[in-house]
Amino acid sequence: MTAPRIHPSILAADFANFERDLHRIADADAAHVDVMDNHFVPNLTFGQPMVERLQQVSPIPLDLHLMIDDPDRWAPQFAEMGVDSVTFHLEAATAPVTLAKRLRAIGARAGVALRPGTPFAAVEEIIEHFDMLLIMTVEPGFGGQSFMPETMPKLSRAREHARRTGLELQLQVDGGIAADTIEIAAAAGADTFVAGSAVFRGEPAEQIALLRELASASAAVHAH
Ligand code: DX5
Ligand code: ZN
Repeated sequence: MTAPRIHPSILAADFANFERDLHRIADADAAHVDVMDNHFVPNLTFGQPMVERLQQVSPIPLDLHLMIDDPDRWAPQFAEMGVDSVTFHLEAATAPVTLAKRLRAIGARAGVALRPGTPFAAVEEIIEHFDMLLIMTVEPGFGGQSFMPETMPKLSRAREHARRTGLELQLQVDGGIAADTIEIAAAAGADTFVAGSAVFRGEPAEQIALLRELASASAAVHAH
């Protein structure tokens, strides 16, 4: 079993102090960066020049979550900035496998994300081309929403598929992850946890340590 990874979402950081806040989460495994385009989701966040600069100043790797239309066209440009991983939404992509191959060829790890309503079956046949599967535990678009427990059977299905096929697949959950929900997601098979408000609401280093501890304990009990 791999140690749980905690990826704070800087959507909950102070937008006037990203460099400072990236240093505040330096104990985390990566910083989760939510790129939104006002089309795929009804919210607008960071564009390429911003991500490029974050990549230059961040003490930890960047984990990009692209909530944008036409990732086939835009995702490679983000990968070229040297970020650790680029995750795009299956619902928005035209040729997901081709795109995953391009991202990997550029040197980024490739991730695919599913909205709460998209079943695991939609990605099962192509998941071997990805390093990470992001199962959204809220509707993408905003931080601070409530965790949707009804997404957990999909997570268990993905974990079971990875186990059965021997696939090395990181399983990420994103949305409403906090001290009172992370154990549920860890028990269902997640190994990578995005948390925005839960981390930045309190003292980030303490929150990261707490979330990591809760996820480890839960994963150990429900060893998958
Ligand atoms: C939602 C984003 C999340 C968001 C999570 O569309 O993808 O990454 O920042 O925020 P919390 O942890 O506050 O739910
Ligand atoms: Zn996200």
